Amino acid sequence: MKVFPRSFVWFLLVLSTFFILNEFLIAQAFTGTYGINYGRIADNIPSPNKVVTLLRAAKIKNVRIFDANHSVLEAFSGTGLELVVGLTNGELKNMSANANHALSWVKENVQAFLPETHIRGIAIGNEVLGGNDQELWGDLLGAAKNIYNATEQLQLTDLIQISTSHSQGVFANSYPPSSCTFRENVVQYMKPLLEFFSQIGSPFCLNAYPFLAYMGNPGEIDINYALFQPNNGIHDQKTHLHYDNMLDAQIDAAYAALEDAGFKEMEVIVTETGWASHGDQNEAAATVNNARTYNYNLRKRLAKRKGTPLRPNIVLKVYVFALFNEYMKPGPTSERNFGLFKADGSISYDVGFAGQESSSEASSLLSLKYIRAQGWSGSYSLVLTACTSVLLLFLRS
Ligand SMILES: *[C@@H]1O[C@H](CO)[C@@H](O)[C@H](O)[C@H]1NC(C)=O
Ligand SMILES: *[C@@H]1O[C@H](CO)[C@@H](O)[C@H](O)[C@H]1NC(C)=O
Ligand SMILES: *[C@@H]1O[C@H](CO)[C@@H](O)[C@H](O)[C@H]1NC(C)=O
Repeated sequence: MKVFPRSFVWFLLVLSTFFILNEFLIAQAFTGTYGINYGRIADNIPSPNKVVTLLRAAKIKNVRIFDANHSVLEAFSGTGLELVVGLTNGELKNMSANANHALSWVKENVQAFLPETHIRGIAIGNEVLGGNDQELWGDLLGAAKNIYNATEQLQLTDLIQISTSHSQGVFANSYPPSSCTFRENVVQYMKPLLEFFSQIGSPFCLNAYPFLAYMGNPGEIDINYALFQPNNGIHDQKTHLHYDNMLDAQIDAAYAALEDAGFKEMEVIVTETGWASHGDQNEAAATVNNARTYNYNLRKRLAKRKGTPLRPNIVLKVYVFALFNEYMKPGPTSERNFGLFKADGSISYDVGFAGQESSSEASSLLSLKYIRAQGWSGSYSLVLTACTSVLLLFLRS
């Protein structure tokens, strides 16, 4: 049964094995391109079990929570949903100060739920550097190291990726994108952190909000540029790259800052972006219409599985903010109105997701259309695995 030359068969075998290993053995918190933040600062949102049903109907597989709530971890058990849990900012000092506390934390909040709950990452605090609580800046790296060491001791480093998300507040200037650098007072904390993350293969996690940038400067910025609608875009004179939407520009600004700091190879993942559907009087851009437009176009952008102008080969990965409106959050009204879904599980505005009430027929149509966009990479692995098995059969004959 000599269908292929033997060397070609070996080549295919090695190639497919490489892809399989790549998929399963390298700690990757994010396997698709479209994920969501499951913020929970509200007491009127559906129970974690109902949220699982909702996420499955919407075909969203990658999820982030901001703590490690055990009810959520239990509800996600056996669902195949991939979860990033969070260490809250309030826990950083404790984790940084004591390696044993970090070890207990990982045992109690991560290891205890594996493998049934697919925890794939631990976020070490949120938007710490550049934030108001400067005391925390110095605890971030220590906490990250102790938590990483704990995963090492528990032999979880192949499964669990350690990261931390940064706000735009870490950057000195981001226009044009190529001129972006880290703020001077942040650099001394940022560089050692990046050094550590590059050693352990973690990405740079960015929370990027064209919504906020636009509201900060509505006179200068074309709202269509912020909303991924047709517009003239901007031209970066240094790189000669053209940007037709602000999110891509914000991401490339982060890449420019990383390159400036000596970390050209690091990948940028967007861990939060979104658009509020309702705001205060001085938040005129927070409308249902704009929120729908942003989220709809973002979804289309991600479904193309493209990189950014500066990094065309790195397919963009984004976690949208957020699953629900969270009425108990402090701050301006917009803060409480980022949800794609209303508290009762119905959709806030239509961006193509099935709400809990919709028919299964509609959601299965959706699932076919968006199956690639939503990051179910399972079928892809399956094909490769099948390929390998077939090749093994050939080799034996
Ligand atoms: C975890 O989440 C559940 C369900 O939302 C909630 O009832 C519970 O109070 C939370 N636990 C903690 C410790 O916050
Ligand atoms: C520090 O973390 C450990 C492990 O999670 C926990 O048992 C302990 O209560 C924490 N201490 C403080 C002061 O939060
Ligand atoms: C982490 O573990 C390594 C060896 O496994 C050790 O050299 C290092 O000091 C530890 N780091 C921390 C922060 O405990």
